Amino acid sequence: MKQQCPFPATLSERNFFVKVLIDQEQINSRVINLGRELANEYEGRPLTIIGILAGSLVLLADLIRAIDVPHQVGLLQASSYRGKSTTPGPLQMNLDYLPDITDRNVLLVDDIFDTGKTMQTVLAQIGERQPRSLKSAVLLWKEEATEVDLTPDYHCFKIPDHFVVGYGLDFNNEYRHLPFIASLEPSDLV
Ligand code: IMP
Ligand code: MG
Repeated sequence: MKQQCPFPATLSERNFFVKVLIDQEQINSRVINLGRELANEYEGRPLTIIGILAGSLVLLADLIRAIDVPHQVGLLQASSYRGKSTTPGPLQMNLDYLPDITDRNVLLVDDIFDTGKTMQTVLAQIGERQPRSLKSAVLLWKEEATEVDLTPDYHCFKIPDHFVVGYGLDFNNEYRHLPFIASLEPSDLV
């Protein structure tokens, strides 16, 4: 399905189209199911859900409302993309705003598991703070792009190795607001 993009102001002169890969309904129902699964897993256990900024913010907002057991929420920032590049650069991290996770069960949430290097590095850093347990959950998993000896504990959808945007995922910090997952035409990746 092709859908005209609701433009952010900075792109409003460009009349481009995005191709929807996963629509809003599919995302909503999968996130609700994942929330139920996680609520069962963590019921009666002290849970802290940590979102990796900025890509996880839409998933985090929906997922925490679908997890019907008490939990704390924290944020950290990790970013390996720079500007208009669609391949990773050096990873920059900021853990300054993390809550105390000693003795808590931590679930790290990110938008996508691509090479897996971001998740691997963040898991190692969080692991040093000695949580009781540590798991990962992502919206998307590009299984064929994985370059680490690690898989996400939970994922919503596997996708092919294509660059995608929407539902938190960006290109050059745009498109995060789209309520669906879409691939960009190569001509838009400029
Ligand atoms: P990894 O370290 O290669 O697994 O990359 C993870 C990070 O790269 C994610 O948190 C995203 O911010 C970004 N990323 C990877 N693939 C895509 C994509 O297709 N679209 C937008 N961002 C992506
Ligand atoms: Mg990210």
